[in-house]
Amino acid sequence: MMHHLFQKGTDNAAPTLLLLHGTGGTENDLLPLAEIISPSSNVLSVRGNVLEHGMPRFFRRLAEGVFDEEDLVFRTKELHGFLAEAAEKYDFDRSNVVAIGYSNGANIAGSLLFHYENALKGAILHHPMVPRRGIPLPLLTGTPIFISAGTNDPICAPQETTDLEKLLSEAGASVQVHWENFGHQLTRSEVEAAKRWFEANF
Ligand code: MLT
Repeated sequence: MMHHLFQKGTDNAAPTLLLLHGTGGTENDLLPLAEIISPSSNVLSVRGNVLEHGMPRFFRRLAEGVFDEEDLVFRTKELHGFLAEAAEKYDFDRSNVVAIGYSNGANIAGSLLFHYENALKGAILHHPMVPRRGIPLPLLTGTPIFISAGTNDPICAPQETTDLEKLLSEAGASVQVHWENFGHQLTRSEVEAAKRWFEANF
């Protein structure tokens, strides 16, 4: 079990939103995004199980931008297992889950896509990096993925975004990238772009 909150939505057919916060965040952080993007959806918001100087994260890192791969793989498996448990407990459709992640949360969402087939129906990744390199990806045929990135993001260089887009597209995903002329921060306009993308795809 992972620390989380679940909110039952009003529309059973709408995707369940899986919210994954950034470093130092909690399961409450991205609730406003769920409300903007799909207010009738179930919301499953999870708190990262790893602490870095007291700050919750979804996996360990050795330095900023340098991931502990072993822990990343272990934590991805843990989150994948938790999704199955939660779907049973709260009676939502496991095959209809769309992730919304920011920064470290976007990275674990990316890692779910990199490691497990049918892990997510779609994903909104705000400021993600490439979670892992040099591994074959599962088939992601037609999986809609929205990526937003900042042209001046010091944590996530534009090349990371371009590489991630390429890797996901090569696995068959249908990727849309949205650029902001800002840094690592999450902006209102990228959330609005994600909302338009969500409405066009779900
Ligand atoms: C990460 O560790 O996932 C990235 O550096 C993003 C962050 O959480 O700062």
